[in-house]
Amino acid sequence: MFPSYLQAPNSNEIGTFLALDFGGSNARAAVVELKGDGTFMELHRVSRPLSDPITGRELRAPSVNAEELFDFLAEIIQKVLDHSPLSPIISSSIPFPLGFTFSFPYHQRRIGEGLLLNWNKEIKTAGVVGKDVGELLCAALARQGLGSVVRPTAIINDTVATFLTAAYQDSSVDIASIIGTGHNTCYLEPKAPGFDGSLIINTESGNFSAVPETLYDQRLDQQSDTPGEQLFEKKLSGKYLGELFRQIILDFSERGFLDFDFLRHWNQPYSISSKDLSLILTAEDNHSRHLFNIPRAELDIFRRVTLLLFKRSARLVAASLIGVILHQDPHLIKPHTVAIDGSLYEGMPGYAQELTAALSEGLASKSSLVTVKLSAGGSLTGAAIAAALEKLM
Ligand code: BGC
Repeated sequence: MFPSYLQAPNSNEIGTFLALDFGGSNARAAVVELKGDGTFMELHRVSRPLSDPITGRELRAPSVNAEELFDFLAEIIQKVLDHSPLSPIISSSIPFPLGFTFSFPYHQRRIGEGLLLNWNKEIKTAGVVGKDVGELLCAALARQGLGSVVRPTAIINDTVATFLTAAYQDSSVDIASIIGTGHNTCYLEPKAPGFDGSLIINTESGNFSAVPETLYDQRLDQQSDTPGEQLFEKKLSGKYLGELFRQIILDFSERGFLDFDFLRHWNQPYSISSKDLSLILTAEDNHSRHLFNIPRAELDIFRRVTLLLFKRSARLVAASLIGVILHQDPHLIKPHTVAIDGSLYEGMPGYAQELTAALSEGLASKSSLVTVKLSAGGSLTGAAIAAALEKLM
């Protein structure tokens, strides 16, 4: 439960800010203009994958160090500046404020700090754990010659970025969640101990652990890079559902329920992605059978297992959201809006409906008080709003 050091925006934050977003697979930077009245515009965006199949560069590997990773981020910022209409503004002597969305568990004692507690989502870059990512970014900006031009002022989690972007446009938003490669939720705490007034709290709920486990969950966890960590996320997020599916099908095969030649190719962990699962569900029977080279009856089993995994994922998320809502409002008397982003929620057929159904089941007659809405792509805008809020502090 990490304080974000930020309150909800009031929709009138104004100005032009640099924004950087570092998630599990891409890094992106942009110039964002906040216009007030809940409106904003992205002026220029540069996006680069952390793994480049053409050059073979893999920034998530343990052989890559913190300097290389953060130099890569500073280069992206440089590219944005080269092509943005900011040039006249940044020639002034005041460094340009930058908001940084960093989607990993970190500890902070002030808004500009982020001490990485541990990597997850299978990232292994060396020399970052235990370090302040704000300092690493400042040092890389200095090496890039941008030390006096750009000043990272706010570091936020991606759930907080989604919260800020959604709440900037709709003041009823009081919870935000990511259901994508990883999973996490933040919420507005009305009275945070040690702070005046309300505060956005990053729950890092992906690391919740009091959840019943199956044999497959245990196997996945034991074989992962981070046994014992992110146990909640490992049961439900996009990074892991394909691997859970693979563990289940291999077990069926070992027990003699299924017998396919192609299962020989499934020995590689993480060889099935949640995108593959979505294809299993949605592709025409013939296409999907051709894809995985499986007979009709088995395709039905695959679909059933996939549906169960999605259903369990949506119900676990719903349970944790209900926990947060009842913490905010024990008798559930006020309306709440949950903003959600993430590839699983947005892209997986039927996922959003499963989540709504589970929330309705759990909240029963009070369910009409809770609205869930998609709030896609708020990482960069949220970083800009955080930089604007920091300026007002
Ligand atoms: C990280 C969180 C992040 C979530 C969604 C989790 O793996 O620990 O910080 O918010 O993924 O990206």
